[in-house]
Amino acid sequence: MEIKDICSKFKIKGKFIKAKMLNSGIINNTYKVYFQNNDKDEQYIIQRINQNVFKKPALVMQNILSISQHLINKLKKLDASIDRTVLHYMLADNNYAYYTDEEGEYWRCYRFINDSVTYNNPDDLFIIEEAGKAFGQFQSLLCDFDATTLHESIPDFHNTKLRFTRLFESYDLDVAQRAGEVQAEIEYLRSRQELASSLCNKIENKLLPIKVTHNDTKCNNVLFDQDTNQALAVIDLDTVMPGIVAYDYGDAIRCVAATCEEDETDLNKVKINMSKFNAFTKGFVSKVKNTLSNEEFDSLSDGIIVITLELASRFLKDYLDGDIYFKIKYQDHNLVRARCQIELAKEFERHFDEIKKTIESYK
Ligand SMILES: Nc1ncnc2c1ncn2[C@@H]1O[C@H](COP(=O)(O)OP(=O)(O)O)[C@@H](O)[C@H]1O
Ligand SMILES: [Mg+2]
Repeated sequence: MEIKDICSKFKIKGKFIKAKMLNSGIINNTYKVYFQNNDKDEQYIIQRINQNVFKKPALVMQNILSISQHLINKLKKLDASIDRTVLHYMLADNNYAYYTDEEGEYWRCYRFINDSVTYNNPDDLFIIEEAGKAFGQFQSLLCDFDATTLHESIPDFHNTKLRFTRLFESYDLDVAQRAGEVQAEIEYLRSRQELASSLCNKIENKLLPIKVTHNDTKCNNVLFDQDTNQALAVIDLDTVMPGIVAYDYGDAIRCVAATCEEDETDLNKVKINMSKFNAFTKGFVSKVKNTLSNEEFDSLSDGIIVITLELASRFLKDYLDGDIYFKIKYQDHNLVRARCQIELAKEFERHFDEIKKTIESYK
């Protein structure tokens, strides 16, 4: 089906002019579409939901709509503008927020946020602080949303305890006969199993509250104003699920503060940039500080290491299973990724006191 025909299924006013594929995302297929409405140019985003990742798109959309409405209500109460700060979904003809085509593909449409840009791995500390503010604001505006009403779009996504158990099971099974190569990595991860399970235990013991989490807190999921670089909106809401604040903060720091890609082979290059860590933390904490308990505050620094260990365990498990989940570019790719994340976790451990002090200082 052509994008023009998909557009016709949504309640978009005016005449379709053209569609352009955007390649900046990696999960969904995203198009920018141009309309003319009473001599005015208007743009929208049309997106096909990736059903390999999201098995129940209708429930994902239900999550997105309910949290977006909450964001709108809160922003209105604060007299803040909602034009460019939240995603506005267009309804399809059947009044759902998605259209399902003959092939069973799910499509959604929302207003394009004008004059916005995204950055993949920004170096500019102002931009990083703004990203921190955006995810912090997202968190704080949703702090009173009942997260138990949300569907778990990827079950057990951050169940680090379970992920570690599964890793050691794969190691014991050794289906790909690779266990012999990963002794040092398994030994390290075993020594960190208790730490990796610590947040799960705190959730079980009701020490950390379940809130709304974004679960993909990369900088490229924030739209910035193209002229001022101020953060506008948090996008890519498919993975919004119940979770704890430390997951979102921890994963954001893992991404933003690393000096290398996720699959760096030279472990000497795996470092953390403390200025970037500082900038994101400053922005994030400034927005969440009034909504967090002391226990949640304390969990932020652990979140960085737990999330890094979790990803290391996922890459290593996939290597042991014979590379069935993550796409690989070469034979040892998952092992390289696991080693890189382990090195990063060690780096975070080495800087742990400074990390804790910095978070405290912005409280
Ligand atoms: N409402 C919007 N306004 C402007 N650009 C957008 C909007 N939504 C998405 N984009 C652009 O499309 C890209 C991909 O969107 P995203 O929802 O992050 O998909 P993916 O899950 O593939 O990462 C973004 O990085 C951004 O450049
Ligand atoms: Mg994205």
